[in-house]
Amino acid sequence: MREAMATAEVGDDVYGEDPTVNALEAEVAALFGHEAALFCPSGSMANQIALQLLVPPGTELLCDADAHVVTYEMGAAAAYGGITSRTWPAVGAQIDPDTVAGMIRPDGYWAVTTRAIAVEQTHNRGGGGVIPLATLRELRRVADAAQLALHCDGARIWHAHVADGVPLATYGGLFDTLSVCLSKGLGAPVGSLVVGAADRIERARVIRKRMGGGLRQAGILAAAGRYALAHHVDRLAADHAKAARLAEAIAPFGVLATAVRSNLVPLDLTKASLDAPGLAAAARAEGVLISVLGPRTARLVTHMDVTDAAVDHAAAVLTNILRR
Ligand SMILES: Cc1ncc(COP(=O)(O)O)c(C=O)c1O
Repeated sequence: MREAMATAEVGDDVYGEDPTVNALEAEVAALFGHEAALFCPSGSMANQIALQLLVPPGTELLCDADAHVVTYEMGAAAAYGGITSRTWPAVGAQIDPDTVAGMIRPDGYWAVTTRAIAVEQTHNRGGGGVIPLATLRELRRVADAAQLALHCDGARIWHAHVADGVPLATYGGLFDTLSVCLSKGLGAPVGSLVVGAADRIERARVIRKRMGGGLRQAGILAAAGRYALAHHVDRLAADHAKAARLAEAIAPFGVLATAVRSNLVPLDLTKASLDAPGLAAAARAEGVLISVLGPRTARLVTHMDVTDAAVDHAAAVLTNILRR
């Protein structure tokens, strides 16, 4: 990947003249069966550009209460897009389309108009859960019936593709816009793309520049993304297997919240002797880093740099701490 970056041909991407960025954008658009894609510095920016495309100021986005777009993006939808967000109770990947349908508010003079629905595939705070294809199809039907747009925060959509065997183009066909990340499981240092129709992506280019996301010789980053797409998608299955192994080792301590579907292992520490910050501190002292999501919830992640030996080490450290 470093070699691909070092030898990348570059130009000025603000003028659309970087051949490596252009090639990456064309590749990703084709993978998802859409007309166009736009390279962005981060997943958060890609999500927020998409939301600004779909939800005009003063209208509303529906998503779940744990969605990244309303949890970790610093209120950007409201701050930059003038977007109101309304959430259904957090249920991770287990979405009930009827609940979503029941929340939709039509055009009118008396209530905020709903314009789009966003889902997250896989679901980060939902423990890496994969939204079933049948649920997504039903949500598309709900959106079409109300003439709403459907956005996918697909930061980890590659994991869903590998876990459920659903082609990326099948996912692509269900959404008006997607944001997809190169910098998580795929292992590139930087980069996400907004994917959609050509006219939308033309508008996205303006919004990206407005938000300070126009990059000049970005080809060195796009080259990393192209390498990641060519070499690091199929191997995600190995990360999923490592996560399952880790989960199995910890399961006897009764801490697993849900079945592990991808590379995230959610920990429910309600009955554990330690809370999440306590577990994280004890594990860190023995070289195992875990994310604290709440007082008694935490997250383990496997990825390409976590070796099988590291998984064994993490399992031994965590079981030792939890059995105390
Ligand atoms: C589901 C999801 N969406 C979007 C993002 C945002 O990505 P970035 O950190 O590149 O802004 C993340 C980051 O963790 C994420 O987990």
